[in-house]
Amino acid sequence: MIPFLDLATQYHSIKEEVDEAIARVLKGSQFVLGDEVAAFEEEFAGYCGARYGIALNSGTSALHLALLAAGVGPGDEVITVPFTFVATVAAICYTGARPVFVDIEPRSYAMNVKHVKRAITERTKAILPVHLYGQPADMDPILETARRSGLIVIEDAAQAHGAEYKGRRTGGIGDLSCFSFYPGKNLGAYGEGGMVLTNSPEYADTIRMLRDWGQARKYHHVLKGYNYRMDGVQGAILRVKLRHLEAWTEARRAHAALYNGLLAGSGVQTPEEMCYSHHVYHIYAIRTRCRDALQQGLNAHGIQTGIHYPIPVHLQPAYADLGYKAGEFPCSETVAGEVLSLPMFAELTGDRLEYVAGAVRRSYRA
Ligand SMILES: Cc1ncc(COP(=O)(O)O)c(C=O)c1O
Repeated sequence: MIPFLDLATQYHSIKEEVDEAIARVLKGSQFVLGDEVAAFEEEFAGYCGARYGIALNSGTSALHLALLAAGVGPGDEVITVPFTFVATVAAICYTGARPVFVDIEPRSYAMNVKHVKRAITERTKAILPVHLYGQPADMDPILETARRSGLIVIEDAAQAHGAEYKGRRTGGIGDLSCFSFYPGKNLGAYGEGGMVLTNSPEYADTIRMLRDWGQARKYHHVLKGYNYRMDGVQGAILRVKLRHLEAWTEARRAHAALYNGLLAGSGVQTPEEMCYSHHVYHIYAIRTRCRDALQQGLNAHGIQTGIHYPIPVHLQPAYADLGYKAGEFPCSETVAGEVLSLPMFAELTGDRLEYVAGAVRRSYRA
């Protein structure tokens, strides 16, 4: 059995450091926010090249508060993509604003900036590109379009810890950027977690208040806030794991290169690293028209796979009220029907990877 992801093996490789960090938090009893979380904010912001980091209880909360800090609310429109995890779109709806979809680009699977200009109206407040699978969207033309129209750019970097766009890490490129530390992410907590990064002291102050009941100081509620604070234990664990992130990313990149080589000429399409990007392969997704049969074939070989994501958000029943129809975003719809995510994690061994690639070739031929 080859799992899609193996968090237990990773834990065992850093067990002593993690156990020590957890014990430190229990001893100090700073269970919510506290010194470990504050240190993690500074370290992660520094790693990404941003001035401020505000640690939260999930990536969804990060998106929600980044949008609120940007002033997004009822009557506004936010341009994003339908080929993403549903949280991107849900967070826009939480603010009362309307998500406006544009199609993705067929090679990177990220926002196709060509469609953005046409989607801008007098109600548009922000553009929200998603760095899907760990590869940044093409940010320069998005930023330029936003600047010309006075729009705010919020990056959904939930899958892109350490990914680079033209040599700059995601997290310091747009006005605000949002990360998830869900356990399976490249930098994952042992529970839920998230962070907003920004270079703006005003946005940072607002988000810091919003995550903690809108308090400027204890029991003085300046804004209508939320309980979106990060746990102390998660902050301490994430500090430990951040020290290993670069090595894990390099391992993922090496696995991706090996998969690419072993699958060349197999008939399935391997992922493309765009010339502007340093991909961190949160997801390694191949593409084929016979995806479902291939997935069954791999399952029969004891190989776990995933589909990220089988239905674009504009076709999800929960978002039918937005009024979109099948056929409106052809690239998103085609890609959603063809992608298959292979096992990808730093601890994957060469033997197992070769076994997976061999099984892909055999199952595809069959
Ligand atoms: C692209 C994307 N956006 C947002 C989120 C939401 O993050 P979380 O699960 O931490 O709320 C996720 C992760 O699940 C994601 O993959």
